[in-house]
Amino acid sequence: MTTRILQFGTSGQLASELLGQAVDFDVEITALSRAEADFADPAAAVRALGVVKADLVVLAAAYTAVDLAETDRELAYQVNAGTPAAIAAALGAAGPPLVFVSTDYVFDGDKGAPYAEDDATNPGNVYGASKLEGERRVLAAHPRALVLRTSWVVSSHGKNFVKTMLRLAGEGNPIKVVDDQFGRPTAARDLARFILSQAKRLAAAEAGDPVFGVHHFANVGETSWKDFAEGVFDLALGPAAPPIGAIRTAERPSPARRPLRGTLDTGKLERTFGVTPRPWREAVAEIVAELKTEQRTAA
Ligand SMILES: NC(=O)c1ccc[n+]([C@@H]2O[C@H](COP(=O)([O-])OP(=O)(O)OC[C@H]3O[C@@H](n4cnc5c(N)ncnc54)[C@H](OP(=O)(O)O)[C@@H]3O)[C@@H](O)[C@H]2O)c1
Repeated sequence: MTTRILQFGTSGQLASELLGQAVDFDVEITALSRAEADFADPAAAVRALGVVKADLVVLAAAYTAVDLAETDRELAYQVNAGTPAAIAAALGAAGPPLVFVSTDYVFDGDKGAPYAEDDATNPGNVYGASKLEGERRVLAAHPRALVLRTSWVVSSHGKNFVKTMLRLAGEGNPIKVVDDQFGRPTAARDLARFILSQAKRLAAAEAGDPVFGVHHFANVGETSWKDFAEGVFDLALGPAAPPIGAIRTAERPSPARRPLRGTLDTGKLERTFGVTPRPWREAVAEIVAELKTEQRTAA
């Protein structure tokens, strides 16, 4: 039977990929935009639950402006924790399971090794703290909640590192990228396809099933932002790529502190779901190819 998904968010990276990739899976998605269910207003989101019949609810709406969150704390907490918790509580034990997407920023990045799901959290910024609060409240309110922590999300649309780097390359000015922050890039498409591929299993799973709880999803391969940028240039521009200079985090202050090594260990997800994310270079090559096709079509 086709799995009916109620998705919050339509325009973000993950939301767009869920909608675009659904054709490959036996799912039917009803997606609500911010105009239809603004997470600033939990009652609006909860009302939508009564209207749409679903076997699985996926939260692809989030407050993702990491630096802005430092001064926009109340809204960040409402969107990332308050409203997800209200949705989880409204679904309750009898309702469909819920997928909540979280972040590597729940960790401080000081462990010196990749993070497992049960490692101690200690967010260094408001965005990470709001997501951690969302995780806790969703898991407490719903016995069939899957929390998927991910990192460094990129795609051919929206705002992300791959697109920013290619724009900078086109502008021709000297480029410097942070070389002392490490993590695992994640294609929004790969995360979307993982969720869609598990929709039926999640919808059928009972409380206590190992598919629920916290899992990490990221493409394979740890990298620094600078190496990531060089990888993107290599794939997109080859020998014509401009050089990239290194800069340290301390030399580029930002309102929100970033983890120096927030690398996620995905072993638990690989064991539980029998899925191994592909290497990030492969995923990014696909994004670069798409951007090139778009460029050719626009020309
Ligand atoms: N991007 C990353 O590097 C990264 C890293 C780790 C974890 N994550 C997590 O991964 C998930 C997907 O991220 P993403 O990259 O797809 O984010 P994104 O591209 O920034 O998209 C965020 C989505 O949330 C919607 N949204 C924002 N405020 C809203 C509100 N008040 N009410 C309803 N919808 C609202 C946006 O709608 P509008 O278009 O209308 O604004 C947009 O569709 C998020 O949970 C994020 O926290 C992302």
